[in-house]
Amino acid sequence: MARTPLIAGNWKMNKTVHEALVLVAELMPRLHGLAGVEVAVCPPATALTEVNRALAGSAIGLGAQDVFWADSGAFTGMLSPPMLRDVGCKYAIIGHSERRGRFGKPDECLNPDAARVFGDTDASVNLKLKAALKHGLVPIVCVGETLPERDDGLADKTVAGQVRAGLADVAGEAVAGIVFAYEPVWAIGTGRACDAPEANRVTGVIRKTLHDAFGSEVAQAVRIQYGGSVNERNAHDLLSQPEIDGALVGGASLDASRFSQIVQATSVIAKDTRKD
Ligand code: PGA
Repeated sequence: MARTPLIAGNWKMNKTVHEALVLVAELMPRLHGLAGVEVAVCPPATALTEVNRALAGSAIGLGAQDVFWADSGAFTGMLSPPMLRDVGCKYAIIGHSERRGRFGKPDECLNPDAARVFGDTDASVNLKLKAALKHGLVPIVCVGETLPERDDGLADKTVAGQVRAGLADVAGEAVAGIVFAYEPVWAIGTGRACDAPEANRVTGVIRKTLHDAFGSEVAQAVRIQYGGSVNERNAHDLLSQPEIDGALVGGASLDASRFSQIVQATSVIAKDTRKD
C-alpha cells in the first residue's frame, strides 16, 4: 500500500500572529504544486485562526500542537477537539516529548516538579488520541526514548510500550488513520539527528508493534514519521528510508527556505521511489 509522506512543521512556542502570517506567505508559493507529499503547519494556538484564513485554497493543512480530551467544560486553559476543528485544524500533535516533560537538552530542562506542568502520560495520550479521532482530527502521536533509556538498551521497549499504551481501546480501523512520529528525545532540538538506518530500524519496531496488535493491513497503512533535528541537509537521507513516511520538523520549520527544501526533498523521493 502506498503511503503518502507527511511533512509537518511544529512551530512550538514561536511566532506572533504577524510573524506566523509572514512565514505562511513565504511558504505558500514555495510549496505550491509539489506532488507526492502532504504538508502541515502547527502554529501556536494564538495564530491558528489567522493562519487558517491565510491558508485558504492552499494544500497546506493546519495542525494544533496539543488537544484536550473533553468536548467542553471547566478545563481552564485547554482546547477541545471541536474548538480546534472550528478554527480549521485537520491534525493535532499528541504526546510530544516536551508535553510529556521529557527534554532533549537536559540543561534546558526544568526541575522534575516543574516538568510535571506539561503532564502528558501514556494515559492522557490515549484519551487525547481517542477524542481527536472521534472528532475527525488526524492525531500525530509522538513516541521516543530519552538518552538514558537508549544507553540502557531500552529504546525499543520504551517506544513499543508508548505505542501500545497510547492505543488502548482503539479499534484497528481507526488506527490506520493515525500518524505516529518516532522522536528520540535526545535528538530533539539538539542538532544531533538519529542516524537514518537506526531511525528506520526503530520506525520498523513501531510498525511491528502495530502489526502484532492490529495485523498487517493496519500496520502497512499507518504513516510513521521521524522527528528530531531534521534539516535540509539530512532530510533526503532520513526520508528515503523505507519505513519512514515523512518528518515532524521543529527548528527548521520556522524558516520558509529550510522547511521548503525538506518538503521538496520528500517530493523528489516520492517521485523516484514510489514507496509501496
Ligand atoms: P527539532 O524538533 O526539529 O527542532 O529537533 C522536532 C520536534 O520536536 O518535533
